[in-house]
Amino acid sequence: MTRLQRFAHRGASALAPENTLASFQAAVDLGCDWVETDLRLTADGVPILLHDATVNRTTGGKGKVGSMSLAQVLRLDAGSWFDRRFRGERIPTLDEALQWARGRCGLNLEIKEEERVQELFHRLAAKFLAQGALDRILFSSFRAADLKSLRAVLPHVRLGWLASRSTRGLTSLNRAVQLSALHPKDPLVNRRLVKRCRRIGLAVHVWVVNQARRLRELEALGVEGVITDDPHLFGDVRE
Ligand code: G3P
Ligand code: CA
Repeated sequence: MTRLQRFAHRGASALAPENTLASFQAAVDLGCDWVETDLRLTADGVPILLHDATVNRTTGGKGKVGSMSLAQVLRLDAGSWFDRRFRGERIPTLDEALQWARGRCGLNLEIKEEERVQELFHRLAAKFLAQGALDRILFSSFRAADLKSLRAVLPHVRLGWLASRSTRGLTSLNRAVQLSALHPKDPLVNRRLVKRCRRIGLAVHVWVVNQARRLRELEALGVEGVITDDPHLFGDVRE
């Protein structure tokens, strides 16, 4: 049996400010295999990691990230809102995160950009196309159309479909884009779904799981991965 893959949701977002290198490092320190994070574009077309469309909730600034230049984004403090200890943490660029993750963990890059998604894909293609299959990168999106567009420009990357309310359409989407994984919201997961995914060759990575009891149930169901805010959930810290 393969060991459960441990994902940290926006990094170890219960322990450090989400989507910062500090939260990514905390995830790796606690034995995570993957960091889940969110991709958006700055006004000048640089892929950066931020959950919301605005910087209001997770930085000291205000405004839409898509209207800010990279220089403006890099000036923001993305740590103090969480705890003064993290003052000076910045919103990472995708390039920084890729460099940081090398040899440390995989990156699950969720496509959050909506308004300029084709431009984002064009940038991702320029960055990744020459590299062929990328074992330690897994793109995910709630939007089937995005996964289709991404597959058109990056034929070899791993794709996961995020399902929050239903998994209707999974089989046809899988036929169209050859998914690697289904990323279902926890309440959608049951034995039937896990069996169905196994039958069509998809890993199941469940979000967001923060209760030890539920983790044990999911392990017993045979899911391949769990995405948590607090990697202490997984118990032991591996070398
Ligand atoms: O990847 C699962 C999860 O991150 C999706 O929801 O809103 O936290 O990006 P959200
Ligand atoms: Ca996400």
